Amino acid sequence: MNTRQTVAPLDATDIEDVEARVLADLVDRMGAVASEELTEGGSPARLVRVSLPDGPDQVVKLLVDLPGAVDGHDLESFRVKIRQIEKVRRDAPELRDVYTELSSEFYGDEWAAYTMPFYPNRDIAEPLRRGEAPGERYETELKAILSDLIGHGYLRERTPADRGQIADIHGDRLSRRFWLLRQYLPAELTEADRITVNGVSCRNPLELAMRVIEDPALTAGIDPPHLFHPVHGDLNTRNILVTDGDRLAAGGGGYRIIDPRGTLDPWDPAYDLAKILFSFTVWDPGLRKGFDMASTADGWTVAIRGGNYPSYLEAAHGLLPLMRSLEPFREMTAGDPGWESRYLLGHAFHLLGEAACRLSDIKKRTNEDDDAALSPIDLAQGHYLYGVLFLENAVRQLETGGAVSQHEALRLLG
Ligand SMILES: Nc1ncnc2c1ncn2[C@@H]1O[C@H](COP(=O)(O)OP(=O)(O)OP(=O)(O)O)[C@@H](O)[C@H]1O
Ligand SMILES: [Mg+2]
Repeated sequence: MNTRQTVAPLDATDIEDVEARVLADLVDRMGAVASEELTEGGSPARLVRVSLPDGPDQVVKLLVDLPGAVDGHDLESFRVKIRQIEKVRRDAPELRDVYTELSSEFYGDEWAAYTMPFYPNRDIAEPLRRGEAPGERYETELKAILSDLIGHGYLRERTPADRGQIADIHGDRLSRRFWLLRQYLPAELTEADRITVNGVSCRNPLELAMRVIEDPALTAGIDPPHLFHPVHGDLNTRNILVTDGDRLAAGGGGYRIIDPRGTLDPWDPAYDLAKILFSFTVWDPGLRKGFDMASTADGWTVAIRGGNYPSYLEAAHGLLPLMRSLEPFREMTAGDPGWESRYLLGHAFHLLGEAACRLSDIKKRTNEDDDAALSPIDLAQGHYLYGVLFLENAVRQLETGGAVSQHEALRLLG
């Protein structure tokens, strides 16, 4: 049952204090006991697993508004997330058993929360981190999941797209967030015309974003001709939870998709599938291991600390062939010759967008009593350096040949 309740606004100014009070109040009103904090997320939201006197465990997800949060991490997007979960569950009945449920929602003036069942799980990428080859489980699992999401989800709605989608979605997002990067990263990385990363001389990414916005001809050939049902919008590997590997291998469920972006409008699936690629190339290994970075006379170097997981690199290279082998994917991308280029350009923009996200909740987390935590500025800078490198490569390929090749792009991973 979905219950909505409004509670009087809290006047505390300290966000962690507000979080603690709201969480305690919600858990109390549910008659529950908090058992663990879930920390795998990549956002300022707080997630707590709770046990109830009767019935299975639930998860409470709370977002207290942080003034200045980047779009996508703000309270309005969080509220739309809840509507998007309802929309997907309503529009796509075939996905109801594999998409997150919504138990209750709660609102205050400067916060919102929802609850869902706790799903015992491993994320789809977990076997790869332990060194398992992609062919053992991951590929079969992802094929089944993407076939469902595309066949029963994205393909449910297909509408002609206005021109200039790439400029609107990616170019604008980076130019809107750039002030945050300027505030925390060294000026030589954000102000210089040229930035050398891993031996490659790159243009300033804001300049490239403006180029994408101001020169529609550059991306006209790879803009999406159609948009599809907004099934997700933030399809990173930590939002794909495997709940029953045997069932999933047999192709009958056994997973849950959680945490959509918060969008109700027709959507470009290339954006979502590039998030899976970005999870393997930089995001997930970077957040788990950190980055090694140095500034030398020859420019900057960046690498995942200790190296990426070998099976992640294999999965990154194999994602396009895996998708191409799926019939629903071929149906969705027929008549869209720029799909692969857009996916690779989107991957480059995701790296830069994430750099700003790492900084968006920095004020909120600085009091955390956790010396082992990786610095948000380092995480932002690692994503930024990789983003500079991949965006230069993608834009240069577009300028010279009108398309972005995966072979050329993923070579940057070494
Ligand atoms: N219902 C659930 N059952 C089990 N684990 C969950 C559940 N919801 C979330 N988790 C775990 O917590 C992590 C973070 O949750 P979630 O993805 O909803 O938040 P987020 O990525 O921090 O937030 P957002 O993208 O909304 O800003 C997930 O990656 C997953 O590991
Ligand atoms: Mg998430």
